[in-house]
Formats: sequence, C-alpha cells, structure tokens
Amino acid sequence: MNAALDVKKISKIYGEPPNETIALKNVSLQIKEGEFVAIIGPSGSGKSTLMNILGLLDIPTSGEYFFENRKAANLSQNDLAKLRNQKIGFVFQSFNLLPRTSSLKNVELPLIYSGVGKKEREQKAKEMLERVGLGDKLFSTPAKLSGGQQQRVAIARALVNDPFVIFADEPTGNLDTRSSSDIMQIFKDLNNEGRTIVLITHEIDIAKLASRILTMRDGQIVSDVKNRPKKQIIKSKRKGV
Ligand SMILES: Nc1ncnc2c1ncn2[C@@H]1O[C@H](COP(=O)(O)OP(=O)(O)O)[C@@H](O)[C@H]1O
Ligand SMILES: [Mg+2]
Repeated sequence: MNAALDVKKISKIYGEPPNETIALKNVSLQIKEGEFVAIIGPSGSGKSTLMNILGLLDIPTSGEYFFENRKAANLSQNDLAKLRNQKIGFVFQSFNLLPRTSSLKNVELPLIYSGVGKKEREQKAKEMLERVGLGDKLFSTPAKLSGGQQQRVAIARALVNDPFVIFADEPTGNLDTRSSSDIMQIFKDLNNEGRTIVLITHEIDIAKLASRILTMRDGQIVSDVKNRPKKQIIKSKRKGV
C-alpha cells in the first residue's frame, strides 16, 4: 500500500537571505493510514512547520508532498480547502473555538462549509459532542467550559466530517495532567478505530502513547522509532491537588 502521506525531500525556508530561517532541511517521511505518530523535539525544531505542510496549510519551498497520492503542488486553493475540510481534522494547543458561539455551533462549522443541511448538521454535531463526553454542554460557550472541555469541543469539531487523519499540534499544552490524560485517551480510541493520528508534543510521556515516535532537531528528523504503546492511560493526579 502507498503511504497516505508522502513527503519527499522537502525544505522550508522563511524570509529572504541574509535573514532567512531554514525551518525544514531535506525532510522525507512516509505515514501510512492507521498509524499513530508522535513528533517530539525542542521548540523551533520545525515540528509545526512540518505539520502545516502535512495538513495542506502551507507549501514547502522545495521538494514534493503527496497527500493520498495527490501532488500537493498541483492542487488549487479550492482543492486544498476541500481536502482540509473533508479529509483532515486539526486540533491546536489554543483550541481555536469561536468564543461567543455554543459548542454545538462550533462543531457544526465544518459541516456548514461542506454544505450539510441544518438538521443533519445539528444531529451530527450533537453525536460528536456526546462521543467526547459533552452531551450536557451543547449550548455552553467556550467561556463556560474548562480547558479540557474546550479541547474536547475542538476534537468533536475535528471529527465531524469523518476525516481519515487528525493533526494535533501540542493539544495538551494548555491542560492540566488529568485533562491531558482524558484528551490522550480520546486520541488513542480514535486510533484504535483506524484513524491516522499525527500528534506534536514536547512531553515524552505523551509521545510514548503513540506507536511511532519521530524526533526533530534543527529542521530534520533525527530519529524515527517504533514504539510499543501503553494500551490504557493511567490517570495521574491533578496538578497541585
Ligand atoms: N511564519 C514564519 N516566519 C518566519 N519564521 C518562521 C515562521 N514559522 C516558523 N518560523 C521559524 O521556523 C523554525 C521552525 O519553527 P516551528 O516549525 O514553529 O518549530 P516548532 O513547532 O518545532 O517549535 C523556527 O526557527 C521558527 O522561528
Ligand atoms: Mg510548534
């Protein structure tokens, strides 16, 4: 089987000489459908840049990227937007929810973009929120939710179009230990159902839940190892309690 995500010798350079930053140097990487990949590495090592290219949010300066055998460079803005909406779910450290909007409406948003009717939208959004344990928070705005709950809304939103891959950039970075475990358990469950997960973290304990760990340094992948992940996440005590 071909890799679902196939990166061939990409580089990414920001800015112009002599002030350019080389964010990625000649990176090659293949990810198959169903994998759970963690990307670790120090701040500034190129993790987010790589994820943005994998997620069709950005383009490399050189090299080629194939998303399910489609050459990214040949896709129009419209094609890219459609693929991002229908094939990819994104989860970010800062949740990125609409602040004055209910959980339900936040989760409906990707369905609005893909032209799903109101009734079906509400039904699907409700199901997704129930699945992440927020069936009782459908009408709460983000301000009424804890960080962990907001991230669960963001995961429900990422899932609502049934994407085959989820990209998560430091999804537990703003959460306490207990909420982090809850969020990681959701990612594990999603992967066990066959969904591909690519997760950036700087916490090795989080990375160890994945079945493959990539380490980045100075714009390169310096290690790529298989990992036998823990099946169940052991909940640790809430910080400071
Ligand atoms: N939009 C940008 N413009 C200029 N430099 C950038 C931009 N985005 C990232 N960089 C630089 O590229 C390098 C890699 O950044 P990034 O991919 O965000 O690393 P990480 O996610 O591992 O912290 C860093 O040196 C960063 O400062
Ligand atoms: Mg980053």
